[in-house]
Amino acid sequence: TFAIISHPDAGKTTLTENLLLSGGAIHLAGQVRARGERRRARSDWMKIEQARGISVTTSVMTFEHHDAMFNLLDTPGHEDFSEDTYRTLTAVDSAVMVIDAARGIEAQTRKLFEVCRLRDVPIITFINKMDREARDPFALLDEISDTLALDVSPVLWPAGMGSSFAGCYDLLNDRFLAFPDAAARACGGPEDEALAALMDAATFEQFAEGAALAREACPAFEEASFREGHLSPVYFGSALRGFGVAELLNGIARLAPPPRPQPAEPDPVEPETDRVTGFVFKVQANMDKNHRDRVAFMRLSSGRFQRGMKLRQVGTGKTMAVSNPIFFFAGERELAEEAWPGDIIGVPNHGTLRVGDTLTDGADVRISGIPNFAPEILMRVRLEDPMRAKHLQRALEDLSEEGVTQVFRPMIGASWIVGVVGQLQLDVLKTRIQGEYQVAMDFEPAPYSTARWIEGEPAKVKAFMDANRSSTAQDRDGNPVFLARNSWELGHTSETNPDLAFQATRERHG
Ligand code: G4P
Repeated sequence: TFAIISHPDAGKTTLTENLLLSGGAIHLAGQVRARGERRRARSDWMKIEQARGISVTTSVMTFEHHDAMFNLLDTPGHEDFSEDTYRTLTAVDSAVMVIDAARGIEAQTRKLFEVCRLRDVPIITFINKMDREARDPFALLDEISDTLALDVSPVLWPAGMGSSFAGCYDLLNDRFLAFPDAAARACGGPEDEALAALMDAATFEQFAEGAALAREACPAFEEASFREGHLSPVYFGSALRGFGVAELLNGIARLAPPPRPQPAEPDPVEPETDRVTGFVFKVQANMDKNHRDRVAFMRLSSGRFQRGMKLRQVGTGKTMAVSNPIFFFAGERELAEEAWPGDIIGVPNHGTLRVGDTLTDGADVRISGIPNFAPEILMRVRLEDPMRAKHLQRALEDLSEEGVTQVFRPMIGASWIVGVVGQLQLDVLKTRIQGEYQVAMDFEPAPYSTARWIEGEPAKVKAFMDANRSSTAQDRDGNPVFLARNSWELGHTSETNPDLAFQATRERHG
């Protein structure tokens, strides 16, 4: 169960498509996307599906290849959706980091990498676009190890780049994969003269020297170090030309770890235990526009799940029979008769399941590490037609459930305040409220610049709320929130209320 992380434009969508092709999950060849229309706000699957005319939109793609089940989770590429991405990354056991060979490590690569590092998620690196002018391979490896403090162990080593790109040497199997068809040639090492015929003299000289040096100087692959997130195997290739992708897929099958224990309270959930435990990392509403359906994406953390099973929602204590769980294969959904740790199943529901929920048939346990982040932009919602207030509420609650936005109900006044991390989320929110809920609305500036969750003794929290009615609110779950006008006010308030804690993140427990 893995995700692909990258900076926008590094080639995540292209690699995804080629992995799916390579894994036999989709069969149409050719390029995915229509030029021009690049709407990053949408899921990357949507891009693929739109271009291919596949109708299912989902956040997980499951396929089987070489006797392994792959679950590929989509992470939105745009930085505005980092919160959603963060939550998705709590559900993976490893990640593929895609780097543009001409650009190296970029801002978003680094941010997502840091999120993976927090959980010691093992990373496989794919250095993409070798068919274009690229940086020197050693410079790229140095950059990865210096800026990310990550050891690198090359698996495929490139010969040339751009118009002189001749292929890659497979350092593990001592063979050369010629570009573009990746036909393998056996050889006695990178300095084997037989390879000279495959490229021009200058490229060969540089390649032979580089590959020999890489083998000598770079750390050898070591599984334990990889599993702990300290060392990354590196593949050079071209997603667009499908080069190096089959090797990457084999690498994932061979190296990527099986389901890992899930951090939880009171104890981590071990995948081998009999009791079924899973957690919701994402909720998607309106997957089918005609039915107000919602699908909760649940990662199974332990046990063997069977369709129809009754699971208890930890927290509310409510029990639900999971009778129509869904598996997501490319282009189709299928009823999940049984599922195992690492599997992602979609659970259709009418709003009972929320991000952060733990479901189990065993003892109470809460999967931890799924946060909400304090929003950086706060806006007031203006409703055009007061008669639609109920619909607006429904829309805001649904979409906050999905993680598109956070909503706050101020202690004074009737207008909702929405909080987002980036401007793009507001555009998505407005489009969806108007399109999916037929509510005409707009945003207007609110006098607040940030929000903090208030924690402390209940009586003290209440006293604070009563004394500061114009700058406090409740979040979607009724938790007390302080709305600060500026950072001075935030600092001043926390200094003058030492009994209270003003938190910028809040663990979600559904
Ligand atoms: P993203 O999801 O990470 O944002 O990247 P995406 O796959 O959309 O790729 C971004 C651009 O890079 C695309 O160009 C894609 O064709 C190109 N690309 C991806 N992999 C490779 C590769 O291995 N080699 C080369 N040469 N190009 C690659 P595009 O959609 O045509 O964008 P544009 O050229 O119209 O700006």
